[in-house]
Amino acid sequence: MIERLLPGELAWRETRTDPPEAWLFPEEEAVIARAVDKRRREFTTARHCARAALAEIGIAAAPLLPGERGAPGWPSGVVGSMTHCAGYRAAVVGLADAVLTTGIDAEPHEPLPDGVLGAVTLDGERARIEELLAADPSVHWDRILFSAKESVYKAWFPIAREWLGFEDADLTLHRDGTFTAHLLKTGPEVEGVPLTSFTGRWLADEGLIITAITRLPKAG
Ligand SMILES: CC(C)(COP(=O)(O)OP(=O)(O)OC[C@H]1O[C@@H](n2cnc3c(N)ncnc32)[C@H](O)[C@@H]1OP(=O)(O)O)[C@@H](O)C(=O)NCCC(=O)NCCS
Repeated sequence: MIERLLPGELAWRETRTDPPEAWLFPEEEAVIARAVDKRRREFTTARHCARAALAEIGIAAAPLLPGERGAPGWPSGVVGSMTHCAGYRAAVVGLADAVLTTGIDAEPHEPLPDGVLGAVTLDGERARIEELLAADPSVHWDRILFSAKESVYKAWFPIAREWLGFEDADLTLHRDGTFTAHLLKTGPEVEGVPLTSFTGRWLADEGLIITAITRLPKAG
């Protein structure tokens, strides 16, 4: 499913189960030595997906360890992103000279738990969600917005190397399966220009919401 959101520059893998053949490097094992079973399974399967995607772009398997603020450490010259939620795991990777940054996120296609929306949205975002709900009540727009914000953070962090709060980006979801994120915090320079926004794509299908951001280098 996730390939519907991605440009050809990214390799991807997704799964709805935890394959028994998935394995970890000893360094990765050490990271989750004391984790509960749920965390062990999602961590392991996401890396299984990542290694399969890396193989597609010609990169050998290597330990993928959580680094600064939890961001995964990719092999040199690689950008990528991982996500896991109940019943779904995915990873996308690309070569750094073809992809500047990427962020993916998956959520169940269900309403956000009570009390979360107010904590993760700006007033304008909530007003736009109301409009979208009126136009199409079959979609859980609140959860899509939340997922899109998590994708923003995952795309932002590897280039900015700093925190971005939910209040630091103003997102607009579009019914055509795209979204825009206007950054309210000064970003790093990307290709000589301050980073001010991201565009992304979303889908809601088969009980899941998936969002993805990919920033490609400017042509030429
Ligand atoms: C980090 C965060 C985005 C993860 O999202 P999540 O829905 O909880 O979990 P997911 O399963 O989708 O993603 C987890 C994966 O994200 C990746 N990740 C974690 N921290 C990251 C970071 N700082 N940068 C990039 N990727 C990160 C990791 O690969 C992690 O999996 P792993 O621990 O097995 O390696 C979320 O927990 C968080 O801290 N959010 C607050 C920041 C935010 O979203 N701001 C909004 C800006 S508009």
